[in-house]
Amino acid sequence: MGKLENKIAFITGGASGMGKRMTELFVEEGGYVIAADINKAQLEIVSRHDCVEGKILNVTSEADWQKAVDEVISDHGRIDILINNAGISSEKPMHEITIDDWDTMMRVNSFGPFAGMKHVLPHMVKQQYGSIVNISSYTALIGMGTNTYTASKGAVRAISKAASAQYGKDGIRVNAVFPGIIKTPMTEKLTESSEILKRLISATPLQRLGTADDVARSVLFLASDDASYITGAELVIDGGFSAQ
Ligand SMILES: NC(=O)c1ccc[n+]([C@@H]2O[C@H](COP(=O)([O-])OP(=O)(O)OC[C@H]3O[C@@H](n4cnc5c(N)ncnc54)[C@H](O)[C@@H]3O)[C@@H](O)[C@H]2O)c1
Repeated sequence: MGKLENKIAFITGGASGMGKRMTELFVEEGGYVIAADINKAQLEIVSRHDCVEGKILNVTSEADWQKAVDEVISDHGRIDILINNAGISSEKPMHEITIDDWDTMMRVNSFGPFAGMKHVLPHMVKQQYGSIVNISSYTALIGMGTNTYTASKGAVRAISKAASAQYGKDGIRVNAVFPGIIKTPMTEKLTESSEILKRLISATPLQRLGTADDVARSVLFLASDDASYITGAELVIDGGFSAQ
C-alpha cells in the first residue's frame, strides 16, 4: 500500500522540475494529483497519467485559485494535500531591482502560497484534516541568493509557521522545506558553466547538487501521515550547504 492511498493532492508548479517529480512520486504512492501550472504545454505532458489532472492556474490570481479549488471540491469532494511549489527566480543585484521586479517576485513566490492556503484551508478545516507543504529556499536562511527572491522565500517561511500555529487545532499540518541548489530548469543557466558547477559542488558537504527527486521524497514524507505529529517544521534539503 502506498503512502498516499486515496489522497487528493494539489501541487502548484506541477509541470516542471521539482513539482513534476513530486507529481510522479505522489502517484507512485497511490495519490491522485491535481498538477496546477501556467505552462500549458508541459502540463499536457505531465497529465498523461490517469491519476494526474492538469489544471491551468496562475498562482497570482485569486480568481484562478477560487475556480480551481471549487472545481476540485466539486469533482473530488476534498483536498488532502496542498504543495505550494510554483515559483520564479531572479539574478538581479539589489541596486538594479525595480518596484515592478519586487512586486512580480512577491506576487508569485509569496502571495501565491498565501492565496493557495487561503483558498484551500476552509475545506481542510471542514474535513478536520490536511497537510500543506510550502517550498521556501535555503536563501531564506542565510545571506545567499538575490534580494527579491530571498525576501519572497523569507515570507514563505513566516506564513508557514503562522499557519501551522493557527490551524493545528483543526487537524491541519503546515510545514516548509528549504532546498539548496537543485538541478531543475530553474537552475539550468547557473549549472551550465563547468567552473561554477565545480565550485558549487566542492562548497557542498555532500559533494553534489540536489535532484528534484531528493526534494520530492522529503516533501512526500511531510505531506504523508508518516509525519502525523510534525507541523511548523523547517526541513533543509541542501546537502549540508547552510550548515557550514
Ligand atoms: N531549483 C532550485 O535550486 C531551487 C532551490 C530552492 C527553492 N526552489 C523553489 O522550488 C520551487 C520549484 O522550482 P524548480 O526548480 O522546480 O523550478 P522550475 O522552473 O522547473 O518549476 C517552476 C514551475 O512553476 C511554474 N510557475 C511559475 N510561475 C507560476 C505562476 N505564476 N503560476 C503557476 N505556476 C507558475 C512554472 O511554469 C514551472 O512549471 C520554486 O518555488 C523555487 O523557487 C528551487
